[in-house]
Amino acid sequence: AVERTLSIIKPDAVAKNIIGEIYSRFERAGLKIVAARMLHLSREQAEAFYAVHKERPFFKDLVDFMISGPVMVQALEGENAVARHREIMGATDPKQAEPGTIRADFADSIDENAVHGSDAVETATQEVNFFFGPDELCARTR
Ligand code: CMP
Repeated sequence: AVERTLSIIKPDAVAKNIIGEIYSRFERAGLKIVAARMLHLSREQAEAFYAVHKERPFFKDLVDFMISGPVMVQALEGENAVARHREIMGATDPKQAEPGTIRADFADSIDENAVHGSDAVETATQEVNFFFGPDELCARTR
């Protein structure tokens, strides 16, 4: 089925100036960008976005990192987009990521791991709606 998923290019990857490189990988994988915005997250936004991890020991470091610089946020659309996006990102920990994945190629650590992607179709809808209103999601029918 055609799905949408949320992608965040994290502050480490924005700082490395590889937004275009990562966008190329999305496009080569058949994922279309249907909304995009660069922003510098506030602490409140980062905490709300990652609320599911609130009790985890890495939560404070995660939030500090995510607000350390601007991020590029996009909604991606395509056949099986959630899983397809996860495949091209590679494992959360770059040491475990398959060669040729975004995290294997660009991430420095499990904390500074270049990209975020929704982990399931249900969370993808929530995460897309966290950043984008219905009028910001563009149809890509041609
Ligand atoms: P992300 O997909 O953005 O979701 C939560 C982030 O927490 C994750 O990527 C990692 O960058 C970070 N993180 C740090 N330590 C861990 C861990 N032990 N397990 C999962 N995520 C972690």
